[in-house]
Amino acid sequence: MRAATLAALALLAAPLASQTPPATTPAETPLQRDARMQWWRDAHFGLFVHWGLYSGLAGTWDGKVVGTKGGMEWIQHYVKADTASYAKAALPMFRPSAGFAVQWAKLAKAAGCQYVVFTTKHHDGFALHDSKVTDFDAGSVLERDLVAEITAALRAEGLKVGFYHSVIDWHHDQYEYARSQQLPHPRRDDAYPEGSRDHGKYLDHLFAQVGELLVHQPDIVWWDYSSIDFQGDAAWRATELMQKVRQRLPAAIMNNRLYRSREAGWASMGTDGYLPQLDPRFGDFITPEQHVPPNGMPGVDWETCMTMNTTWGYSDHDTAWKPAKELLHNLIDITAKGGNFLLNIGPRGDGSVPTESIAALQTIGAWMQQNGEAILGTRPAFADLPFGRSTRKPLSPNRAKLYLHVFEKPTDGRLVLPAADYVDGTCRLLASGAALPVSKDAAAGGAAVVQLPASLVVDLPVVIAIEHGLPLPAGK
Ligand code: GLC
Repeated sequence: MRAATLAALALLAAPLASQTPPATTPAETPLQRDARMQWWRDAHFGLFVHWGLYSGLAGTWDGKVVGTKGGMEWIQHYVKADTASYAKAALPMFRPSAGFAVQWAKLAKAAGCQYVVFTTKHHDGFALHDSKVTDFDAGSVLERDLVAEITAALRAEGLKVGFYHSVIDWHHDQYEYARSQQLPHPRRDDAYPEGSRDHGKYLDHLFAQVGELLVHQPDIVWWDYSSIDFQGDAAWRATELMQKVRQRLPAAIMNNRLYRSREAGWASMGTDGYLPQLDPRFGDFITPEQHVPPNGMPGVDWETCMTMNTTWGYSDHDTAWKPAKELLHNLIDITAKGGNFLLNIGPRGDGSVPTESIAALQTIGAWMQQNGEAILGTRPAFADLPFGRSTRKPLSPNRAKLYLHVFEKPTDGRLVLPAADYVDGTCRLLASGAALPVSKDAAAGGAAVVQLPASLVVDLPVVIAIEHGLPLPAGK
């Protein structure tokens, strides 16, 4: 039995203090926590997948375009439909093909992603697994367990598996939406049709479904989401929910979205209101949405999630695709700031992936094929450089590699480093292995300067790798 399992069992047996919230993490030392987080910190690149009943509706309701921008996984909310009419329209359009999951897994793998987080249930409440506690699930309506299919396909490609799970639930007849003015609900303006509701019964449903999902042993549980006025223990019995996961899966990594408090790293209800602090009781990492914190979040684990156009779930009407080059710059920028990039695809109702998303992932994948070592397993080196970004990786206790990611070639071709050294080792173009001159330059105050070849054209970022014997800058 592993030490972490023992610790989790010990926690189970220990009487819980009545006032202070019990720690949701097993009694971990910083070193144990580092070990648990290591694969995730090394990965830097994951694929997010938003896929469910809304995917087949594709941003259209009753023949009308619901919107050309924003998250069409919220379509039920936008059109204020109850579950019966939503399901009636959406179910016939949700027809997963036989091999969809294998396509996703191969796409993610070829792009250089190390993990995939997919929606096991979004706010509409439709469960993608075969659930015993509801008929609003893939098992009942398709006689398939889509979570099992996706998980198997991802594992076959050696990818880590993350379960997005919405605690907000628009379908459950006991979910007390009136307790929050800030969380979305399609019928928020209406009184409960049943007269009254018992949120505890919804929580029993939530706990039961999470239990069913844990059988698949996800590496990540990605909760979504809470508001200042409805969060934590009051809204989701969050301490207990996280404990349930940790007891079953001591190595699992979870985000902080069962909470919306300052201790959990949230500054506001805005998607850009984050604080660089996170008490591990509230989760392992912070989730900036649709943006990169300008200075990263030193000392805290974080992951930027981002769409390729403006919607998470598939829409026929959103054509605002970000160029692949911008997405690649984001991956490098985030890695150089010590975070992870969770880049989203929104497959259609049959599970097929939009060609624009495939093309962008292929561009990133081709770059990763040549330059992946400058991303995977790296940590931040210098703050933003005028010409691009930098990452670092130890080679041995006293040698390391510095990676310079050149976004823009300086007109004189000189990359001036903010340090005088880095001239004792080899300096190469990572993709070709071609050696480059690096020297201490008196004109640059003795700084190390790499001279790029005049013929080198920089379109997608070009990586220079310098082996050196300097102690590494501090970082996690
Ligand atoms: C928000 C949205 C949701 C999306 C998520 C991704 O919480 O409600 O639709 O799944 O962000 O981060």
